[in-house]
Amino acid sequence: MRRLLLIATILVPFGTALVYPQGPAKPTKGYPAVNAIFKANCVGCHQGAGAAGKFDVTTYAKVMVGSKKGKMVVPGKPTKSPLMDYLKGTKKPAMPMGAKPLKSADLKIISDWITAGAKNK
Ligand code: HEC
Repeated sequence: MRRLLLIATILVPFGTALVYPQGPAKPTKGYPAVNAIFKANCVGCHQGAGAAGKFDVTTYAKVMVGSKKGKMVVPGKPTKSPLMDYLKGTKKPAMPMGAKPLKSADLKIISDWITAGAKNK
């Protein structure tokens, strides 16, 4: 019996690790994934009253409002969305400012989200 208990104590956490290799799944598409990219790369400069360019990326509604220059996201049209131009560096200053460009996988997540209508989901 004691030996069984011992085996159980060793195997149970191990089993959990097998079921959840990296903890809860990270969102890979839609606004949740876009929001995670913004959180990791942009909120340092783009949040609250002092948000750079008055572009606040902390909520869906604020992202859709855009910046002091107007809308940054045009639903359904990534090529007409200034956001993509800044991220690709075809509009300056390239974003994220002072850092390496986003990975192409992240650019695709954002572009796919816009193509799908830039919805809050
Ligand atoms: C180190 C600070 C910093 C980081 C990090 C940063 N930005 Fe910016 N961002 C700025 C500044 C400064 C401006 C220019 C504001 C201006 O010209 O008035 C700007 C401008 C922009 C604009 C254009 C707004 C406009 O009206 O011209 C967009 C879009 C933008 N950033 C998106 C992002 C995104 C998306 C990220 C993350 C991938 C990001 N930025 C990361 C500082 C930053």
